[in-house]
Amino acid sequence: MKTQVAIVGGGPSGMLLSLLLAKEGIESIVIERSSRDHVLSRIRAGVLEWTSVELLRRAGVGERMDREGHVHAGTRVAWRGADHMLIDSQKWAGKPFMAYGQTYVTEDLYAAVDSIDGLVLDECDDVVLNELLDNPYVTFKRQGEEYRVDAQFIAGCDGYHGVSRQSIPDTVLKTFEKVYPFGWLGVMSETPPLEDLWYVQHERGFALASQRSPMLSRYYVQCPITDKVEDWSDERFWDELITRFPPDIAAQITTGPSIEKSIAPLRSFVSEPMRYGHLFLAGDAAHIVPPTGAKGLNLAMSDVYYLWRALTLKLQTGSDELIDRYSATALDRVWKTERFSWWMTSLLHVFPEHSAFDHRTQAAELDSIEASEHAQAWLAEQYAGFPIEDWG
Ligand code: FAD
Ligand code: DHB
Repeated sequence: MKTQVAIVGGGPSGMLLSLLLAKEGIESIVIERSSRDHVLSRIRAGVLEWTSVELLRRAGVGERMDREGHVHAGTRVAWRGADHMLIDSQKWAGKPFMAYGQTYVTEDLYAAVDSIDGLVLDECDDVVLNELLDNPYVTFKRQGEEYRVDAQFIAGCDGYHGVSRQSIPDTVLKTFEKVYPFGWLGVMSETPPLEDLWYVQHERGFALASQRSPMLSRYYVQCPITDKVEDWSDERFWDELITRFPPDIAAQITTGPSIEKSIAPLRSFVSEPMRYGHLFLAGDAAHIVPPTGAKGLNLAMSDVYYLWRALTLKLQTGSDELIDRYSATALDRVWKTERFSWWMTSLLHVFPEHSAFDHRTQAAELDSIEASEHAQAWLAEQYAGFPIEDWG
């Protein structure tokens, strides 16, 4: 098979790129390792920056999001069991955000790619990227047959565990990593969520209230990374969540049976460069942020935006200008967002080495932010999302 862009990975990055390229008349083939059912059943993120909302609309997949997503002016942060403030992204950055689950985004992207007869090959095994410097092609096995896809460019959108980043020689690739000594236990329940999203700093650990729809809530509590899901009955989870929330807000939480429960590790990770010859990395294939701040999916979408405009310029006019700048442009936003996600994580979680002193200084930092309009504005600007070059 031959195509203009071979896209490795059919998660949100790969599918959005395929759709945006198709809008420019550029052909692609998506090569995905898992089954479609598996990809569509993943839960993961829930918060879209406004530029992500606009990009999905531009790709023609905004209809259900605009109907069913919940627009918020800001997110609340609580500490010391009582104090709370709003990270007001509408007021300070002029942008709200949208609560709309990654599961729905992925469903919408698959439906849109299907509607234009886009080619998405799932259940591909032994995916190998070849001759990335001059004559790129991807080989894989599918349903017992061997395939080869020749392409002008390869987009590595295959997440943290994918093959794309590993195809860049060690002599070229630099990686930067921080692993956190705790995880997030996440629960989904068919209960009405709180009106707002809440980040809670508590001496027993971080807690978060989020939402998917008027009858679907998503909650998280920080837990030891060594914990297993089986250690957490529903009753234990709700007790812990409610203990960590300020009592007046906890009283508004509706509990109920969990329909999903999982533990996610927290990691900060960046690999550089994001381009090697004809291969371009985007999304989790190139970087991971801890979920505090809800930036993983949004960063994936800004990479896709930069890659889409770079490949479009190259394939339509022959100009190398944007593909040559892709890695540096994307990494600029990546590192700012990495810093923000690391800082939010450090501010709101309990670390094993923390003493009462550290807990007091965390609370004092939140007090200081609340007391300063400059600090509130800086926090809100970052929460709303860093600017994207030439957004328009
Ligand atoms: P992925 O979604 O990882 O998609 C990559 C795709 O490539 C997958 O479909 C995978 O099956 C496929 N693939 C992998 N290897 C190969 C291969 N060798 N060949 C072909 N295909 C391959 N972000 C938030 O903002 N908030 C959250 O609450 C949040 N929770 C998360 C929880 C978990 C457990 C994880 C893993 C991530 C979470 N994230 C969260 C991050 C967010 O979900 C990701 O940033 C987002 O999914 C990135 O999209 P992506 O398309 O780049 O990568
Ligand atoms: C989710 C929401 C957040 O605000 C966040 O930081 C991480 C995850 C969620 O809805 O899953």
